[in-house]
Amino acid sequence: MKKITVLDIMKMKQEGRKIPVLTAYNFYMSRILDDAGIPMVLVGDSVGMVEAGYENTLPVTVDEIIYHTRAVARGRTNALIVADMPFGSYQSTIIDARQNAARLIKEGGAEAVKVEGGRRSAKAIQAIVEMDVPVMGHIGLTPQSVHKMGGYKVQGKNKSAGETLLEDAHAVEKAGAFSIVLEGIPAALAKEITESLSIPTIGIGAGPFCDGQVLVVNDMLGLHQKDMRTPKYVKKYADLQNVISLAVGEFIRDVEEGKFPSKEHSY
Ligand code: KIV
Repeated sequence: MKKITVLDIMKMKQEGRKIPVLTAYNFYMSRILDDAGIPMVLVGDSVGMVEAGYENTLPVTVDEIIYHTRAVARGRTNALIVADMPFGSYQSTIIDARQNAARLIKEGGAEAVKVEGGRRSAKAIQAIVEMDVPVMGHIGLTPQSVHKMGGYKVQGKNKSAGETLLEDAHAVEKAGAFSIVLEGIPAALAKEITESLSIPTIGIGAGPFCDGQVLVVNDMLGLHQKDMRTPKYVKKYADLQNVISLAVGEFIRDVEEGKFPSKEHSY
């Protein structure tokens, strides 16, 4: 396998090859995903919810994303690393957006950044791209807009909302993004957007017609708190929560019953 760059990701769309993407937040997961051949890893601000236990992604800071991106960068050999720009890191001024994007590249070791929002973020996207930092857009159900959306709701369901998202997608492409996440939108709309853009679309809860698919790694591995609702779009490829519970239960019993450590584990 060779090192993947943004050019390879864009070429995959031209060649009609689907683009699998997963999130990662730490060294060992990054190494596992990279060894398995994932072409692109996203250090998402979802880290705040699935690793830090925040209620939403809003409290996540640039420093936290940098910390996790550095760990992911250390574990990766070939995959392209995209780091999320957290809430508040690109909305206030263009200077802020550029400085924070530069920190994710310089201090985190990311090779691209992701910015939520369509037309409203186009200026920030363009400004970051002008620094030669590749940007991935993100429209539809943008989790940083949770309060405005009134929850995590499917977006673009009616004709005019669909048209607005189509315009958003074109604004992101025009601003120079190399790819765009389409989250939580009807499959037919995702198909229309995908067919009308030259940059790859990466879907999550956007049906089967996108150029690529992304999942939060904890979701697809079943590493979920029992009380957390799994979204409809998640396919669970493993049940690690159960595997870990069983292993921990066995450890507790072994220690309580004096079965561990045994001679075999002693010096
Ligand atoms: O934060 C994240 O992990 C994301 C993906 C789910 C697209 O934005």
